[in-house]
Amino acid sequence: MKFFSLFTQELAIDLGTANTLIIQDGKIVVDEPSIVAIDRKTGQTIAVGHKAMQMHEKTHESIKTVRPLKDGVIADFTAAENMIKGMIQMIGKRRRLFSHLKMVICIPSGITEVEKRAVFESADHVDSKETYLIYEPLAAALGIGLDVEEPVGNMVIDIGGGTTEIAVIALSGIVCDQSIRIAGDEFTSDIMTYMRHQHNILIGERTAEKIKIEVGSALTELDNPPDDIAVNGRDLMTGIPKQITVNYSEIAGCLDKSISKVEDAVLKALEATPPELAADIYKTGIYLTGGGALLRGLDKRIAQRTRLTVHVADDPLRAVVRGTGIALKNTDRFSFLIDRKNV
Ligand SMILES: Nc1ncnc2c1ncn2[C@@H]1O[C@H](COP(=O)(O)OP(=O)(O)O)[C@@H](O)[C@H]1O
Ligand SMILES: [Mg+2]
Repeated sequence: MKFFSLFTQELAIDLGTANTLIIQDGKIVVDEPSIVAIDRKTGQTIAVGHKAMQMHEKTHESIKTVRPLKDGVIADFTAAENMIKGMIQMIGKRRRLFSHLKMVICIPSGITEVEKRAVFESADHVDSKETYLIYEPLAAALGIGLDVEEPVGNMVIDIGGGTTEIAVIALSGIVCDQSIRIAGDEFTSDIMTYMRHQHNILIGERTAEKIKIEVGSALTELDNPPDDIAVNGRDLMTGIPKQITVNYSEIAGCLDKSISKVEDAVLKALEATPPELAADIYKTGIYLTGGGALLRGLDKRIAQRTRLTVHVADDPLRAVVRGTGIALKNTDRFSFLIDRKNV
């Protein structure tokens, strides 16, 4: 057994729309934005992850940046594969000759059979000998520390970059789920639109994301409000760079519509939940994960709307990869893992 493990490399990969994380030997060894920079002429990948993100929105005509999974589907198969390759290479040359590579890859639950096959193929191309896929809500539930095998219903809401996935999990399966394309990216674009209309200032995606993280809020009144921040952009009237001050209440106002859509989807998922499981959720409450769970006041707002207890997972940006890591250690036990024969 020991001999065998010496020649095995095991990876748990969270292939997120915004961030890709990899766990090896129980440690997070990769945590990078899901983006690649490509040379338009040769089609070659120039950079992956943080390096590619630094180029984002600053490219010239011969370079483009691509987020291969932007909307929860694989928009660009080649870019997705090159991204996976690049991220695995970041771990370094720890692979030995004849090593047996085993991977569990977490995927958005909305992806199609064709996309699943493409993920398996990409795994083949990095020489994986044993590959499993896991749906994001199950990985999130495992990462939160829920016992997914029990005959007890739990509701998990994962608010990522491209999609919000709302799922009720019981007996090792997803009983009902809702996936909507309103999540962190949409919040960011709401902020860009608001800045243009309200303050006549053009800002980029990264500045908008910074605003969201620093003063973003789901409620117009918070108990512990963040300080106002200064924002730089280009004045629409004069064309000259300018600076304005932004406070959290106005950001809460501009995010209101999108957050309502998330709430509506949560209510829809609750309505679709079989009564015995609904009774469980009444007791256990709702769990929030994904980067969107960090938005100030979101837990409170969902709690007010649903009248249920809402828990924010510890370290919500990493719950899914931690859960995928748990799945990796239990590939012979968890029946919900998808292997090649299932697709
Ligand atoms: N503190 C924060 N407040 C609000 N949103 C955040 C915060 N931190 C990260 N996010 C957002 O979370 C999203 C990424 O979450 P993540 O769970 O990594 O997504 P995915 O699983 O789709 O890759 C991004 O839209 C990012 O802007
Ligand atoms: Mg995710």
